Amino acid sequence: MLTAQLTLDPDFTIGDTDPRLFGGFIEHLGRAVYGGIYEPDHPAADSSGFRTDVLALVRELDMPITRYPGGNFVSGYRWEDGVGPRDQRPGRLELAWKSIESNAFGTNEFVQWCEQARTTPLLAVNLGSRDADAARHLVEYCNHPSGTAWSDLRIAHGFPQPHAIKHWCLGNEMDGDWQIGHKDATTYGRLARDAARSMKLVDPTIELVVCGSSGRSMPTFGQWELEVLEHTFDLVDYLSLHTYYGNPAQDTPAFLAKPDLMGDFIEETVALCDAAAAKRATRKRLMLAFDEWNVWFHSWDQDKRVTPWQMAPPLGEDVYTMEDALVVGGMLITLLNHADRVKIACLAQTVNVIAPIMTRTGGPAWRQTIFHPVSHVSRFGRGTVLRQAIQSPTYDTGERESVPYLHSACVWDPTAATLTVFALNRSLDEPLALQVGLRAFPPFSAATWQVLRDDDLRARNGEHEPDRVAPLTREGAQIQPDGLHAVLEPASWNVIRLSTAP
Ligand code: AHR
Repeated sequence: MLTAQLTLDPDFTIGDTDPRLFGGFIEHLGRAVYGGIYEPDHPAADSSGFRTDVLALVRELDMPITRYPGGNFVSGYRWEDGVGPRDQRPGRLELAWKSIESNAFGTNEFVQWCEQARTTPLLAVNLGSRDADAARHLVEYCNHPSGTAWSDLRIAHGFPQPHAIKHWCLGNEMDGDWQIGHKDATTYGRLARDAARSMKLVDPTIELVVCGSSGRSMPTFGQWELEVLEHTFDLVDYLSLHTYYGNPAQDTPAFLAKPDLMGDFIEETVALCDAAAAKRATRKRLMLAFDEWNVWFHSWDQDKRVTPWQMAPPLGEDVYTMEDALVVGGMLITLLNHADRVKIACLAQTVNVIAPIMTRTGGPAWRQTIFHPVSHVSRFGRGTVLRQAIQSPTYDTGERESVPYLHSACVWDPTAATLTVFALNRSLDEPLALQVGLRAFPPFSAATWQVLRDDDLRARNGEHEPDRVAPLTREGAQIQPDGLHAVLEPASWNVIRLSTAP
């Protein structure tokens, strides 16, 4: 049996979790929109064509912010195609994913869907194939009250009140050569600066996310951030970063260590932002928007076989395993432990495309394995993230040394006097006896414990077995004079909640 100790003190904090840390992402990609959130012919569709079964699951995840419309899609998108009378909207070749886009769903439908899903939009503008003018026109269409061509067009389209969209991304993954309109850092930095200036002139209350690197292994990582911030530091509020992990080599210990690489990426990106601040001798601190993150690799081969130029083809439909849920849980723990600087994070994506929610077009919707850690952290991760003094045995992988078997985050809610411990045991074969020192807390009297585990790390949920992998309640978390004691099963995700209530 492995043993590990955590010591906590409510005065030793990392920061409060921003609700926007629990965000999602809907892209015009595969069946995310058509057959996912929007399917007018589905028996569960409402009068707007939104699937109410999907809405219920999205609400369960409680995602306060949702990025839209891409992703790579946005870099070839004409937003004007997706507004106004549906019968006049053009069909287009969608070059990013080699599909046909009908434009039946666009910005106004997304805003309406967000209201139903109890989320708010994080809209990306196209800085791939378009310019700063197209971006500011979209801000004017969405946010200006009336009396101008673009705002009056919105009113003519049936939306008399401005949408008041606060959060905007200045393009998507502009460092990637796969991106439509890919640019070098100087060219992108200048364009992002021009777009930021004009968008903020239209509406000074908006907040802007500038593109950082689309991965830590990008050859331009580091230099990209410094050069882009050279042009945009004073105008933007957040820098983005993206990451996806996979396990094509079937090396589970290395896969379970990926959340630590995510932490390295965050800390390096913070250092780059702070170097840009130091160069300006300013106290302004840029915050991070981790606006794409997830596990993504199961669908790679299958996607290569999809015939191009279909409407809503099945792309990116990863069917997630128990093992993937552990990694997603680990990534959530990493995000919590960087709550001082990561203020926005979007699980990529929300429905059907690398998503916690799957549907069959015309059929049911169900929770994938990764739904469960996402739901746990969204429900119980709001509060103050505590610093942890951790003692845990470690292991090495080819990519990283000294990976602690225990990966944990602790969130204190002083109002409810509730402490939540999120913990992964990354050992595949040994239980881990955890002791959490709580000497500075009020006495806790109750502990609840939920576990996600399966004897088969390849176990999945599907239409016919939607709850094969689902959280179980465990007994045995004990509050003793020296703190909390619990034995975590091998390869398990654990949520232990302590409260002072009887
Ligand atoms: O989320 C899927 C894709 O991954 C997005 O379109 C792109 O930004 C990233 O490469």
